[in-house]
Amino acid sequence: MAADTLLERITDYANRANPYPLYAELRDAGSVVQQADGSYMVGTYHEITALLHDPRMSADPRSRTTPSPGPSEETARLPFLRLDDPEHHRLRTLAMRPFGPPHSPGRVDAMRGEITRITAELMESFQTAPQIDIVDDFAYPLPVTVICRLLGVPREDEPLFRQWSDTIVASADVTTEEDTTERDRAGRQAREEMGAYLVGLADQHRGRPTGDMLSAFANEPDPAMRLTPEELAETAVLLLIAGHETTVNLITNGVLTLLRQREHLDLLRREPDLLPRAVEELLRYEPPVHMRERIPRTDLDVAGTTIPKGAPVVLVLASGNRDPKRFHEPDRFDPTRPDNEHLGFGSGIHLCYGAPLARLEAQAALGALIPHLSTARLLQDPPPYRQNAMLRGPRHLPVQL
Ligand code: HEM
Repeated sequence: MAADTLLERITDYANRANPYPLYAELRDAGSVVQQADGSYMVGTYHEITALLHDPRMSADPRSRTTPSPGPSEETARLPFLRLDDPEHHRLRTLAMRPFGPPHSPGRVDAMRGEITRITAELMESFQTAPQIDIVDDFAYPLPVTVICRLLGVPREDEPLFRQWSDTIVASADVTTEEDTTERDRAGRQAREEMGAYLVGLADQHRGRPTGDMLSAFANEPDPAMRLTPEELAETAVLLLIAGHETTVNLITNGVLTLLRQREHLDLLRREPDLLPRAVEELLRYEPPVHMRERIPRTDLDVAGTTIPKGAPVVLVLASGNRDPKRFHEPDRFDPTRPDNEHLGFGSGIHLCYGAPLARLEAQAALGALIPHLSTARLLQDPPPYRQNAMLRGPRHLPVQL
């Protein structure tokens, strides 16, 4: 099959349940593979890592000079995830301040008890149910409740921003569709509405700090450290969406993997101390984020191919995680794997800022679920997946307890 149809096949919903053989094809086709539309794909670990750390690569969609399989965010306002330094660094630093100083027990550590309590409450609610949906009954409500609590967003408003979140995430997906005008318009509108809602909430906290992040943003005493209303909107939207769309897939993929490979379920039940390593292995083996886009600011030589300035480059993180040149037996799930420097949280200056929180949540969730899974049975395998190819995960995971 010609390499230029690879992205089409990867984004084809029919391949969502198992894109990994296509990633192997991508790596076999070369480290850098050009697509028919002039964009590029990179699927090998060392090249992806080098590009994520290369200061000549931009995360800003305005650096593109050719059409892109990614979103066409033609907006002046972008979250810092899509900005380059020095602007990215300034906003990331400001956004991280309420999380607590780096390398010290901050707000995330303080959430430990809260996460355990929310987990226990959710478990309680389905103790007697013969059948549950791991996504709707557990993996989704946990991170959403946690991020709402952290940001200071009323949990009752969740149905409202679930819709916004779905629309924004759909508009950011990688696609080979030619006309994305309507998708992009809906994404922009949802982003604006959600941003306005969050700025409104922050305004209510001004002068009345309540200990949450929106309130910390609104009451920053140092004018040099203050976010503008636009920056606050983009940052809060980014955090709320990250809290909605990623950890849910990590927890669900964890249950799916352990129910498919019961020897590991038994191992983790006997040795719960292995759980942190098992979560790292899940981030390698079944990562929630499969792809990210970058654009070179100058012509760039990568593994013998020149990628022209401005050409979109899709970095397939999930393929790098299965690269046999980097990982021994990469298609094997091994919760005791040593030297597991996966790309699940990215790498370089955009390395995931919520990683400590996501790790804590996944460890708490799987730790609570594992003792109840010994007699559990998957009711649908493969389960139905969400449409999204970039943020990939099951839409539902029905399990008989
Ligand atoms: C299992 C859960 C998660 C996964 C797999 C994940 C993955 C990632 C990845 C791969 C990136 C890098 C994107 C790039 O290089 O373009 C990233 C960035 C980011 N993540 Fe996460 N994430 C998770 C949870 C979270 C949570 C819970 C939050 C917020 C509380 C969060 C906030 C962010 C932010 C703000 C960035 C942008 C960082 C920057 O541009 O400097 N993430 N995440």
